[in-house]
Amino acid sequence: MRADGGFAKVSYAADLIRFPDTGAQGTARAIESARSGVLIGGTRGLPYFLDLNNAVNPHVFVCGITGSGKTYLMRSLMLKLAQIAGATIVLVDFTGEYKALVDQAGEERADPKLADSLLAKKVSGIVYINLADSGNQRIRASIADDVLTSMIEGMRMRAANGKRVYIMLDEAWKLLERSKALQTLLREGRKYGYGLIFSSQLVEDVDLAMLSNAATLFIFRLQNRQGLSRLAANYGLRSGQIETIQGLGVGSCAALQTLVSGKREFCLIKNVHGIMLDDIVRLNAGGATRHEIARSKLEEAVCEACSEGDAQEALRAGERNGYVDLSALIVFLLGRGANRRRLLAALRKLGIGEDELADSFAAAVASQRLNE
Ligand SMILES: Nc1ncnc2c1ncn2[C@@H]1O[C@H](COP(=O)(O)OP(=O)(O)O)[C@@H](O)[C@H]1O
Ligand SMILES: [Mg+2]
Repeated sequence: MRADGGFAKVSYAADLIRFPDTGAQGTARAIESARSGVLIGGTRGLPYFLDLNNAVNPHVFVCGITGSGKTYLMRSLMLKLAQIAGATIVLVDFTGEYKALVDQAGEERADPKLADSLLAKKVSGIVYINLADSGNQRIRASIADDVLTSMIEGMRMRAANGKRVYIMLDEAWKLLERSKALQTLLREGRKYGYGLIFSSQLVEDVDLAMLSNAATLFIFRLQNRQGLSRLAANYGLRSGQIETIQGLGVGSCAALQTLVSGKREFCLIKNVHGIMLDDIVRLNAGGATRHEIARSKLEEAVCEACSEGDAQEALRAGERNGYVDLSALIVFLLGRGANRRRLLAALRKLGIGEDELADSFAAAVASQRLNE
């Protein structure tokens, strides 16, 4: 067996000819990153693996228009980095859209005030901070800023203990624009093994100094010319590459990485590989956000107030256009003689807000009266 593991040596130049405009990593690089990285998706050539140890710094910026696939990639990254690469993820979730996935990963919600001490104790896994019901945007941003500040203190205090930490912020750029902590993390994180993974739909707003601190970029479909030209200038993109980005479909992106060697890599990912959620129920509780809850958890909760057979039937009865409508679910359960207090307590435990519960119960009772 040969020292390189038996793989034939293929020159990078040959790959460049085969994949003009570098739609894929060269063979040697692809094999190397497959050994230590996590799978992102397929390209025109070999699958693309992300190896953050090979980048100049551990920070990642994900951009693209709404609906282009940013969150899909972030979810996949969160689980793969935590469960395959053995990193610790601190996820600050502003809208609760990661809750179902975090539940399934067997992780619990952390108190923002205890986030850093939890991080210190964890060897790998996810420290999950859900701010969905923590007040208005300004309040959430201020809690997130406090979390980042405490992380920085902890990071400096404990210094390099070989641990890899990634702090993930989805669509938070606008909220944390003035956060000193965010800037500090980007500047100092590398020394301590702390990376920031953040996303935004607006490239034109993100500070260029900040952008140049992120060695890895995932660019989904972008249309705004101003934003694109900023990226192009900052990262030396060619006009063909810019055109490609403007025409990307949902779930496709360009991966741009500045390697330790100084070389820049541009790869086109045809389809980001996601994490399959098994059976998630989207619950409409009347508020602005939709809850995503694992079906088994919702059934379990409903079971606390009624019999098991009724729970499955109740979820079907509550279905409205792909969502389970909470008030329709409650109407059904109350009709079956469910215990109101126990139902309320069980739903509360799922993380449904007090206002939403009050509204849904009121709507259910009103509709029951109409039917009487
Ligand atoms: N690679 C992909 N494969 C399959 N579906 C995808 C992929 N990327 C995104 N989607 C779907 O497209 C929709 C929008 O994706 P999302 O990640 O929420 O976009 P964004 O966060 O950029 O607004 C979602 O329903 C998501 O499940
Ligand atoms: Mg999103």
